Amino acid sequence: MTRAVCPGSFDPVTLGHLDVIGRAAAMFDEVVVAVGDNISKRGWFSPTERVAMLREACAAWPGVRITLFGGLLVDFCRAEGIGVVAKGVRSSADVAYELSMAQMNRRLTGLDTVFLPTAPEWSFLSSSLVREVAGLGGDVTPFLSPAVADQVQRRAAARREPTAG
Ligand code: PNS
Repeated sequence: MTRAVCPGSFDPVTLGHLDVIGRAAAMFDEVVVAVGDNISKRGWFSPTERVAMLREACAAWPGVRITLFGGLLVDFCRAEGIGVVAKGVRSSADVAYELSMAQMNRRLTGLDTVFLPTAPEWSFLSSSLVREVAGLGGDVTPFLSPAVADQVQRRAAARREPTAG
């Protein structure tokens, strides 16, 4: 069985992520979408909320499993019997950032990486831009699955409410 991991923060999952996950699912027997709790990124959704949104968004793909992971990606992959990382890249800046991580992962345990060029219509899209646009009242429905868009808009509204005291 060929098993790949799609790691990420997914805060929240976008249509760009889903494009990459769906294409990876067509290439591998199983794709494990691994939600990392990246401490350097402060986001809107808890890791469990991100997993729940991904499960709903990926429900149509039987070969896709969603899980949380902590620690090193290479350790997670070794424990899960995963030999390949599948990562979407939007630009040369993404490649530059991802390449050193891919090389480090390969040097650590032999874990290899395949880069999937993001579909051009999503090359500008990122979770952080979705949060910024939604936070300032913009329409993010073109960039998200309907259920995720609903949750993002609710969270944006809650964050705009003045806090007591
Ligand atoms: O694409 P993202 O959202 O920035 O991905 C974040 C994540 C969690 C996938 C990435 O930071 C990661 O792999 N973290 C695990 C820690 C690790 O293995 N670090 C060494 C990388 S060489």
